[in-house]
Amino acid sequence: MSKKVLIISTSLRRHSNSHALAEEFAKGAKEAGHQVELISLIGRQIEYCVGCLSCQRTGQCVIEDDANLIAEKMLNADVVCYATPIYYYEMAGQMKTLLDRMNPLFSADYKFRDVYMLSTAADDGPHVADRAVNGLEGWIACFAKAELAGSLFAGGVTSPGEIANHPALAKAYDMGKNI
Ligand SMILES: Cc1cc2nc3c(=O)[nH]c(=O)nc-3n(C[C@H](O)[C@H](O)[C@H](O)COP(=O)(O)O)c2cc1C
Repeated sequence: MSKKVLIISTSLRRHSNSHALAEEFAKGAKEAGHQVELISLIGRQIEYCVGCLSCQRTGQCVIEDDANLIAEKMLNADVVCYATPIYYYEMAGQMKTLLDRMNPLFSADYKFRDVYMLSTAADDGPHVADRAVNGLEGWIACFAKAELAGSLFAGGVTSPGEIANHPALAKAYDMGKNI
């Protein structure tokens, strides 16, 4: 069955390593016949959540910026995939800001069930992405019908584009293909 797949690439730099993983994931998912949309946060205005909780009554955020369009797309996606650079052994702040702004979905009839995480960092250790994955799991825990379906980390990449030829690219493609 063809699924609606929303991939959100949160790095704000050009030739981003995590974005390269997102593109491979997208390629694999398209190859498998899914309906894929890849969104980058570059150039998007996404303000902090102000915590008013109006969204839980109205379904709408009081802030008018690009997070609303992303929330609408997420509401109707079957699969959501986040790509992030690791910043200080956590997800990048812009990804966390986006997660907070998805709060209108908390009380909505969201469709997504499978959530994926792609990440990159300079360090190549075995636990570099753990806190970032753990952070995303905190978000997923609030969406009871969803689960973390997979996560993929590529270490040892610092400069833009350094991920070229990294074995994680093929793994991201396979992950997308097998959703
Ligand atoms: C503010 C900042 C914090 C970072 N913190 C870490 C870190 O804690 N550990 C690490 O291994 N790399 C760290 N890095 C390096 C990035 O994770 C690495 O360059 C990654 O490939 C960037 O992904 P991108 O190209 O998708 O933006 C940091 C980079 C920046 C700019």
